[in-house]
Amino acid sequence: MNEPSMTMVKPLLKVTDLSVTFKRDNGMFEAVDCMDYTIESGQIVALVGESGCGKSVSAQAVMGLLNRNGTISGGTIEFDGSTIDPSNDTLMDQLRGNQISMIFQDPLSTLDPLFTIGNQLMETIHAHDSVDRTIAKKRCVETLKDVGFADPLSIFNSYPHTLSGGMRQRCVIAMALVNHPKLLIADEPTTALDVTIQAQIMNLLKDLRDKYGMAILLITHDMGVVATMADKVLVMYAGQIIESASVMDLFSHPLHPYTKALMASVPSIDGDGSTTLSSIRGNVSANYDTLIGCRFLTRCPFALQRCMQQIPWKDQGCNHRVRCINTTEVEL
Ligand SMILES: Nc1ncnc2c1ncn2[C@@H]1O[C@H](COP(=O)(O)OP(=O)(O)OP(=O)(O)O)[C@@H](O)[C@H]1O
Ligand SMILES: [Mg+2]
Repeated sequence: MNEPSMTMVKPLLKVTDLSVTFKRDNGMFEAVDCMDYTIESGQIVALVGESGCGKSVSAQAVMGLLNRNGTISGGTIEFDGSTIDPSNDTLMDQLRGNQISMIFQDPLSTLDPLFTIGNQLMETIHAHDSVDRTIAKKRCVETLKDVGFADPLSIFNSYPHTLSGGMRQRCVIAMALVNHPKLLIADEPTTALDVTIQAQIMNLLKDLRDKYGMAILLITHDMGVVATMADKVLVMYAGQIIESASVMDLFSHPLHPYTKALMASVPSIDGDGSTTLSSIRGNVSANYDTLIGCRFLTRCPFALQRCMQQIPWKDQGCNHRVRCINTTEVEL
């Protein structure tokens, strides 16, 4: 009799050396530089960093939804065991809204004011599945219930303008979930909402992860949300991941000075989703792809001469990696 073999579990999403370049009036701009990460089935991975550092662009690249002036200029993406080409619209039409869903940074614009929530949910199902209307409607109503509506049938029959911001946000989440995707990319899904609703929606996403086992890539500025939601964290600065670790390791031993600054930061109270780095001056340079060496150098209180050279990854074990040569000095 054969011994049972140890099978390696493949990640659901494996992004290797992903680079994204935009054509601008004044030349090319590399918005994402050699990004590497994996997401396992059922895992919640948070992608954090200040405004303009490439979080949305990197997610849009995976979804094949870059603006027309942008291309994937390097790297590979594997989803569920196969290499995917996000520029292949035929393939991506099969995956998007079905196996991979995305909640956009401006989610409320996802809803069409001319159609009921039910119409829009049904259309999302029928784009991928030819189930009959009764079964499709049942699935829509169940999903509306999943996202917390006590009277899902009345929401099914409602037009978006008759619902509050929080209710519409739940409908957007229902649209992303109605086909039970394996991966949900949620780009600042609660930015436009007040704090209480934000917390409700985050709890909801976590419950749905537990119920359906879907993985979530959660893009956020809010380290409080990261601490309560994520299993793993990717810290991004100026187009590059500069630290990655389990949420426990990152919060107990943050290594990069930028990560520490993020932890000491507070989300702004005017609700625009931005973050003020209380302990570090300046902001992300607009042309960050031209910076040499560590891209955080000019803002870092611990910078050394050597930081002007290319910074290698340092592996701390337990999948905690950092791109900084002076981590021991850092105490912000
Ligand atoms: N279509 C585009 N053409 C040129 N540059 C772009 C384009 N889209 C984004 N960028 C640039 O890419 C960089 C990363 O932008 P991105 O939207 O990913 O930032 P972000 O981290 O999501 O910020 P925020 O937290 O504010 O949403 C920015 O410098 C932005 O100006
Ligand atoms: Mg963004």
